[in-house]
Amino acid sequence: MLKFILNNKEVSTTLAHTTLLLDFIRYNKTLTGTKIGCREGDCGACTILIGEIINNELQYKSATSCLTPIGNINGKHIVTIEGINFENELNPIQQAMHNQSATQCGFCTPGFIVSLAGFCLNKNTPTYENAIASIDGNICRCTGYKPIERAAKNVCDILQDKPQQNIATYLVNKNILPKYFETIQARLKALSTQTIENTNVSAKVYLGGGTDLYVQKHDEMLDANAMLMADNKDLQYIKNENGICKIGASTTVTQMQESDLLNQHFPNLQQHIKLISSTPIRNIATIAGNLANASPIGDLTVFFLALNATITLSNGQDERKILLSNFYKGYKQLDKAASEYITAIEFQLPTNNTYFNFEKVCKRTYLDIASVNTAICLQHSNNIITNATISAGGVNAIPMQLSKASAFFAGKQINTQTLEDGIQIAISEIAPISDARGTKEYKTLLLAQLIKAHFIELL
Ligand SMILES: Cc1cc2nc3c(=O)[nH]c(=O)nc-3n(C[C@H](O)[C@H](O)[C@H](O)COP(=O)(O)OP(=O)(O)OC[C@H]3O[C@@H](n4cnc5c(N)ncnc54)[C@H](O)[C@@H]3O)c2cc1C
Ligand code: FES
Ligand code: FES
Repeated sequence: MLKFILNNKEVSTTLAHTTLLLDFIRYNKTLTGTKIGCREGDCGACTILIGEIINNELQYKSATSCLTPIGNINGKHIVTIEGINFENELNPIQQAMHNQSATQCGFCTPGFIVSLAGFCLNKNTPTYENAIASIDGNICRCTGYKPIERAAKNVCDILQDKPQQNIATYLVNKNILPKYFETIQARLKALSTQTIENTNVSAKVYLGGGTDLYVQKHDEMLDANAMLMADNKDLQYIKNENGICKIGASTTVTQMQESDLLNQHFPNLQQHIKLISSTPIRNIATIAGNLANASPIGDLTVFFLALNATITLSNGQDERKILLSNFYKGYKQLDKAASEYITAIEFQLPTNNTYFNFEKVCKRTYLDIASVNTAICLQHSNNIITNATISAGGVNAIPMQLSKASAFFAGKQINTQTLEDGIQIAISEIAPISDARGTKEYKTLLLAQLIKAHFIELL
């Protein structure tokens, strides 16, 4: 039995763990303020907040309920638009949207307001940039974004004295959120939830955040025999063990983005991660999901391939480690038995003379998958490249390391000729196909340009 708090009410359900939260909210609880737009994580009309006690602190993140299985919200607080309404008046976020004429048909409006409520509740500094970032997963088809941006600015302005602690109490005292928010932490602690046993190794499908699975196999997922991975706390960590970074498979993309260790070693991590999906998707998407999905254009896959990462696979009893570059055998074919799942990923942390870069070109800059993506990990001293590992996506049936080009660069002097020669070798290694994301000629040119971009960025 799953138990959680939905707005101000404790609820329990024996529905299948793979049931989508959006359906539960709308059809079982008749809370129809949460809208169904795309059902693919793209529009944000279904945005809800998930509150969870982490390190004795209640933390909220936005998520797309159309891709969230209810098995992933056991013991948590779910906030829908109804949960932030006041009885007889608009809350200040709704009022800001109204004042700025930021709504017309209103279909997208609950999603924007819930995302902005998430911005109010989270620990980020209440800057205008962070307010805009909080709505990066919400699309409006009729109002246009300027009024919404002005409303976001108004919300930001009223948060200027926001503390780092007891944020819910602060928001309640300021009449931004209803009073019950102050009671949630204690009520979540008192909620006696059963831990979902994670030993179902006969499962047909390993379910992470669901952001790939529910898009690709929506109907199959609803009654799938799934082993829930995302909420397994033993698989959520990022640590440094003697210069080796170890990351638990169920770590989310947002946890990666917020990691002090990773930000310290990857100075451009923030700008790289912002190119990957959107805030509500990153909040629930796991790293293992990106790797095991085996998409030829998976961004984190390309990121970790350039770091020459190793993954750990387990069948619940035995473990084995393999290089990520050996994991991909053909289009969506993995060196993985059906009983095996990813538990961890590890790589050598960049040292002082190691330089890392990630590039991605899509049809639009944000919230889009790549036409071509690539990453590089480069070491050099005295104008000589001592080591290079370059990865690329969108140029083959699998995400790949450009092993010939990488080997060519090692030991070469840094100059334009080296770069031109290396690019020619890279092009000889790839086999792009023409599809909706570009012709094979375009993708070939893109890879060449992106390798140049790596060198311009790093050198
Ligand atoms: C709107 C939208 C935008 C997106 N944008 C991007 C983008 O810009 N770049 C990008 O790379 N991706 C993008 N994605 C894809 C997706 O979000 C990522 O691939 C994400 O990391 C998948 O993680 P997940 O936990 O949701 O995976 P899931 O959907 O849960 O699983 C994906 C696959 O991995 C398997 N799996 C999950 N966990 C494990 C495990 N521990 N061991 C073995 N197998 C496992 C599943 O069985 C499944 O085959 C986007 C998705 C959406 C909906
Ligand atoms: S319905 Fe569009 S993101 Fe969920
Ligand atoms: S107000 Fe109509 S889609 Fe945004």
